Amino acid sequence: MNMARDADILRELYQVGDDGISGAKLASRLAVSRTAIWARIEALRRVGFDIEASPQSGYRLNAAPDLLLSEDLVARRGKIRIIGDPIQVFQETRSTNALAERLGRDGVKEGAVVVAEFQTQGRGRLGRTWLGSNGKGVLLSTLLRPPLRPPEVTRLTVMGATAVVRAIRRCTPVEPSIKWPNDIMIGSKKVAGILTEMNAEPDRVRYVVLGIGLNVNQSACDWPEELQSVATSLKIETGQSVHRAALTAALVEELDRDYCRSVGQEFGLVLDEWQSLCSTIGKEVCVQFGERRIEGRAEAIDTDGALLVRGDGGHLQRVTGGDVSLRLND
Ligand code: ATP
Ligand code: BTN
Repeated sequence: MNMARDADILRELYQVGDDGISGAKLASRLAVSRTAIWARIEALRRVGFDIEASPQSGYRLNAAPDLLLSEDLVARRGKIRIIGDPIQVFQETRSTNALAERLGRDGVKEGAVVVAEFQTQGRGRLGRTWLGSNGKGVLLSTLLRPPLRPPEVTRLTVMGATAVVRAIRRCTPVEPSIKWPNDIMIGSKKVAGILTEMNAEPDRVRYVVLGIGLNVNQSACDWPEELQSVATSLKIETGQSVHRAALTAALVEELDRDYCRSVGQEFGLVLDEWQSLCSTIGKEVCVQFGERRIEGRAEAIDTDGALLVRGDGGHLQRVTGGDVSLRLND
């Protein structure tokens, strides 16, 4: 299968929309024969693309299947600088973070994205398990080689969270918020989580894997009972299915934009946006971080993404990880 060509054909079809494009024009734009175009259109139809062909308007794409396909994701995403080249899709894997880590060890260049329809050992924060339902969520990891020092890598979790929120806003009417450090919430339920894993020497980052799990078309019954009270999906919130390929392409674009800002001079802008989306700031919180328990008012995050909590005695404490809950007297 000629991957690049399928992505090119789909990109042209997305661009012309309802106007359609003739086989001859498509063939000349892509510098291939009309027969080659016809063969690829047939192959795309076989995987579920509804492509109409008429003598008046030529080929027209009526609908795309709810599948994550690398050619389709490449066709949908706009121009990117780093994140999204290439995009590989796997039907099933242990964990997309583990796959991206492998790419990191193998010396692959930064920006590579891996997506899976199903994970057998999805990893969450603090050694937990991420439960994604087959074919209903977005499970994505990207390999990064940021020019940052190890303590600055928290920036990437911050930028990941703002990118997830913007992608959700682009594709749905939902307004998510961020719960420090990296939970994306709709109301009091979690719709997405981020797991940033780093491979570093004491003063040098070798690579970072930024993993995102996003609940899209799950119904409550797709999850075990204990998750139903803490998790939600975009479909549960909007009552409608969300097209996962469109959402994934939007997410890749937003990640690319925020990554470039975060490793450049514009991390302050990302941080401001993050703070405006964060429901934790200004609240009375309790943070459990291993054996440590910190209580007080969450005032801000610092430039490395750590949470600054003003304790009851008035002193400011810097928290770099853990689980946040609201204090009942808030
Ligand atoms: P522990 O007892 O170690 O604290 P746990 O009881 O929370 O773990 P795990 O199965 O290790 O159980 O982790 C599941 C947790 O991860 C859930 O409580 C939930 O917060 C989160 N989680 C996992 N998958 C999802 C998902 N798809 N959507 C939202 N949250 C999820
Ligand atoms: C969390 O605990 O909130 C973080 C969850 C991160 C889950 C995603 S799913 C894609 C990627 N691969 C993994 O194994 N984990 C992350």
